[in-house]
Amino acid sequence: MTASPDDSAAAGGHTGWLPPVLPADVIEARGDHLVDVAALGARGVVEVHTAEHGILAVGMTPQGVPFAVGDVCRHQFARLGRGRVTDDGCLECPWHRAHFDVEDGTMRSGPKGLLFGIAPYSKAVRAVANRFTLSTHPVEVVDGAIRLTSGS
Ligand code: FES
Repeated sequence: MTASPDDSAAAGGHTGWLPPVLPADVIEARGDHLVDVAALGARGVVEVHTAEHGILAVGMTPQGVPFAVGDVCRHQFARLGRGRVTDDGCLECPWHRAHFDVEDGTMRSGPKGLLFGIAPYSKAVRAVANRFTLSTHPVEVVDGAIRLTSGS
């Protein structure tokens, strides 16, 4: 059976060019245990609520690098854990497709599209965003789960 775009939206995923419109499930961390790698799904990232850091965008790049970063886009505050991980390992915002470096929290490329993708605007958003980078939290994969590194 093939998943329809509606199935994807119900799961908090993309519907093609539209951002997710339904609330995605936020996973509750269990101490340092954030999420099982198998639970990441096709988008490669989920939202995880932690006691210490609030809600984080937690995922893994196609290169096998796990990450946990702040969940709020620096453009218009979309929740990045509802976005996706790109083939080159960036975290893509679900609203206007800004790309974030999951290792240092910087915005690698600004918003895209007809309105927000106008080059001077997109570049200005990126410049501002990189003064307020996403928080980054050291994680590791242990027994198939992404965990906060002890002491992080
Ligand atoms: S809200 Fe993230 S790029 Fe616009």
